[in-house]
Amino acid sequence: MGHDRIPLTDVSWQHAQVRAEIQAAIDRLLDDPNCDGLPFVKALEADVATYHGEGWHAIGVQSGTAAQVLLLRALGIGPGDEVITVPNSDLATNAAISHVGARFVLVDVQESGFALDPDLVEAAITPATKAVLPVHMHGVPAPMSELSAIARRHDLLLLEDATLALGARVEGRLAGTLGDGAFVSFAPRKVIGGTGNGGMVLTPNDDVARRVRLLRGYGQDPSVMDLPITERQVLGGQGHVAEGYNLKLDGIQAAVVHAKFRRLDEWRVLRAAAAARYDALLAGVPGLTTPIVRSGDAPAWRNYTVLSHDRDGLRAHLDAADVASGTLYAPPVHLQPVYRHLGLGPGSFPVAERLGAALLNLPIFPGITEAQQERVAGAVRAFQEGGATTA
Ligand SMILES: Cc1ncc(COP(=O)(O)O)c(C=O)c1O
Repeated sequence: MGHDRIPLTDVSWQHAQVRAEIQAAIDRLLDDPNCDGLPFVKALEADVATYHGEGWHAIGVQSGTAAQVLLLRALGIGPGDEVITVPNSDLATNAAISHVGARFVLVDVQESGFALDPDLVEAAITPATKAVLPVHMHGVPAPMSELSAIARRHDLLLLEDATLALGARVEGRLAGTLGDGAFVSFAPRKVIGGTGNGGMVLTPNDDVARRVRLLRGYGQDPSVMDLPITERQVLGGQGHVAEGYNLKLDGIQAAVVHAKFRRLDEWRVLRAAAAARYDALLAGVPGLTTPIVRSGDAPAWRNYTVLSHDRDGLRAHLDAADVASGTLYAPPVHLQPVYRHLGLGPGSFPVAERLGAALLNLPIFPGITEAQQERVAGAVRAFQEGGATTA
């Protein structure tokens, strides 16, 4: 073949832009007699908090899942409580609710945008409901105004799974700042990621921030735990005020994420341009739906997700044409073996099921070239127009 395979994402392109910064940080850590990564974590936290606005806290933890668990716990959500969320997220979103002893209540999604359907939320609210947790699926914002009105009317917390939406704008505001708290993921292939796992809690609440810090660091009072290691060594094991976890963000991951976070807005523009290019290239392709974005919203474009009348056929055709694709977040969680006991069989959430059977993620990343996109779109068009077979 005269061409290379086009990957779904290319994180190495991002790393190539910031390699020197990452290597300098790693060298600094290797030369530090205490190998103290906390300064990298603190520097990242300060920049992410500032980015999200006055009064917001950003607390670095081991993963997006850890961020969600710690946020829920810090908000006092636990046994006996219910959290309303979607059936078409990563299973981690549901599992984290179960991990704190609460119960997730699934509500179907909108046909457009894959997001929690505000029209269906109120019927799912019970006296045990504590929070509504929309997910900005594929990096496309959920309808936050409508969900916020419902949460306010019923005195519920509104939380955001912003793991796919770092830097996205929702009606002009930053994803992650529209409710009472949010969590992001810095897993390697997220909008901004480390070379391993990482995540962050975003909260506007000083007390919640303090509790997240407490829980992530062995339950040791942050006034001790977050001191430079040389001072902490003097104080020793004092100040344990809770049974916490060991879930602090790793220093090297913080340094990697920080180098890339500084490019977030630059890369966001490149992703948006790539999405707009696909929109134009794929306009009018029969049997294909391109992403639907509400006016006023600016997705993070973690994924460019289309719907096809014959998803599996399209996927096989792309594969044969050396184009990678994904079926991320499908099938929905209620059809996964782990939740069989819930008795939520096929037909329980028809929209999520329909979307899950039709969705396909096309290659998108900040460094994707016009030529690559033209090749992807040409292959999609050829299949959808019936001029291609999957053989
Ligand atoms: C929508 C969504 N929520 C939560 C998570 C959990 O994040 P992490 O993998 O960092 O624990 C993921 C990650 O894969 C995700 O895609």
